[in-house]
Amino acid sequence: YLQLTLAILKPHVVKSPFVLQKIRDLIIDNNFKVVRSRRTTISHEEAELFYKEHRDKFFYNRLLTFMCSGPSDIYILARHDAITKWRQLMGPTKVYQAQYNAQDTIRGMFGLSDTRNATHGSDSTESAKREIMIFFKDFNINKWYNNE
Ligand code: CMP
Repeated sequence: YLQLTLAILKPHVVKSPFVLQKIRDLIIDNNFKVVRSRRTTISHEEAELFYKEHRDKFFYNRLLTFMCSGPSDIYILARHDAITKWRQLMGPTKVYQAQYNAQDTIRGMFGLSDTRNATHGSDSTESAKREIMIFFKDFNINKWYNNE
């Protein structure tokens, strides 16, 4: 069935027209449909809410500073098995794993560091719902799932 995931193309991607176009092409070539999209500079409040599970991590402040440093492209993507497929296409979070073992993934190609790792993707259906509601407040996700 068509599943939704929340994808973020992070600030260093949006700043680079070539990389941005490559990732957009990968999204379409991998059969994702873009259900909603917006370009926005994520506010500190949104980032705190979005990354609340990481608030005790050593990289938390660095992560928030980076994510709020410029515009991101935020997408609701739909596809069969979207959550798993998008995470496969992104590759590993850590840039050394991505660059050594997953060179054909988005992070393998365009990740610059563990923080500037190009893209975000929801890790479960619960996270996808939570994350979509943070950035697309008028999107009725329950209606989407009840209609299938
Ligand atoms: P993301 O998928 O957006 O979710 C959590 C983010 O934290 C992750 O991508 C990275 O940007 C960041 N992150 C995860 N692990 C590390 C790390 N070890 N050092 C720095 N940043 C990290």
